[in-house]
Amino acid sequence: MNAASGNGYRIVENARLDARNTFGVPARAPLLVEVTDAAALPELFGYAMLRAPSTLILGGGSNLLLAGDAPGAVLALETRRIERLRDDGSNVILRADAGVVWHDFVLWALGHGLCGLENLALIPGTVGAAPIQNIGAYGVEVGEHIHAVEAFDRQQHATVRLAAAACAFGYRDSLFKRQPDRYLVTAVEFNLSRTFVPRLGYAGIGEELRAMGMAEAPRAAQVAEAVIRIRRRKLPDPAIVGNAGSFFKNPIVPLARAEALQSQFPALPLFAGSDTGSRKLSAAWLIDQCGFKGRRDGDAGVSAEHALVLVNHGHATGLQLLALARRIAEAVQARFGVAIEPEPRIIGATW
Ligand code: FAD
Ligand code: EPU
Repeated sequence: MNAASGNGYRIVENARLDARNTFGVPARAPLLVEVTDAAALPELFGYAMLRAPSTLILGGGSNLLLAGDAPGAVLALETRRIERLRDDGSNVILRADAGVVWHDFVLWALGHGLCGLENLALIPGTVGAAPIQNIGAYGVEVGEHIHAVEAFDRQQHATVRLAAAACAFGYRDSLFKRQPDRYLVTAVEFNLSRTFVPRLGYAGIGEELRAMGMAEAPRAAQVAEAVIRIRRRKLPDPAIVGNAGSFFKNPIVPLARAEALQSQFPALPLFAGSDTGSRKLSAAWLIDQCGFKGRRDGDAGVSAEHALVLVNHGHATGLQLLALARRIAEAVQARFGVAIEPEPRIIGATW
């Protein structure tokens, strides 16, 4: 392994990515560029090897399946500033660098009396990745609190600032996710409030707050604590068993299709879709019904805690996890006639 550095970056050749993906699968990158100052990006993207579309932008590696080695260079942002851009006494615009750890940012905001992100506590990864799939949990999506996204446009070789309305945020979707080789997010601006408006509609939060003795007028930090407790109980910790959270997105189907499925399978849970003419199905339920929960094929398995989470019990490769994911999707298709799609980005193979 050779290392070199320049102004605002450090380059490692033939770098291991095993500890940089939460599945913990083995993989290498021919070149890993750790960027400590986003001002170095125009220079870095002047080099042919980085300019190639195969260059992968890596955050915490918690929504990736490395099915092989990285095909080109890997670039990781290690910029960590948080600043207040505007404050009118009730609403505040915060700007956080892409390399800030997401959960640290949520806690920082709460610690400064700023509300809005509490339901998104404990999601792994970085601030820079949050807009990519418009991270969501417990009834809130981050796009609701994004003011603007600052990015380096690899096509235009220029720095851009996109207002939230231009980011096309949807369920686990955005402009950035649709053009993965174009935008490198350098910072995100968030619109947060000093007034706490609780969002307690998602199943389980109210019960958790009651169990904590906080059901009456909870504060934002207590809602975050309730979410953290539920998540710790429901989802395996990647530090203990490799995983990337939900491996599949919840499929959205037309209302008529959802109703037909529910009359055939009365226990099928249905959630609001993207509009009144659609419904979201629970991929976890579909997979659970196919008998995969807790199943294991060598070291590639499905969590016994949550049917939507694929796990690496030790030495699974990305390809073994991908093969299991394909078997699961085929079984769901055969039993329910529903196509489920992976949520993490797959590197080195196509779905
Ligand atoms: P990575 O995995 O490194 O990258 C993910 C994608 O974003 C890749 O395509 C990558 O190229 C791109 N990317 C990363 N950084 C940048 C950047 N700066 N600019 C441009 N592109 C970039 N997600 C949810 O939405 N809700 C959840 O509740 C949730 N729970 C999870 C629970 C567990 C236990 C785990 C392991 C994952 C969970 N996830 C969840 C998925 C994951 O945490 C999020 O998608 C997170 O935003 C990924 O961040 P990351 O920094 O690890 O991104
Ligand atoms: N269920 C089962 N079997 C299981 C687990 C769940 O049948 O093993 C059913 C239950 O009926 C349950 C329903 O699935 O009511 C929904 O489960 P859960 O509340 O855990 O939510 P989810 O749809 O499985 C989604 C997100 C999570 C997010 C939670 C909480 C997707 C793909 N996943 O999971 O996000 O944390 O809601 O909001 O939308 C991620 O994206 O990586 C992720 C973890």
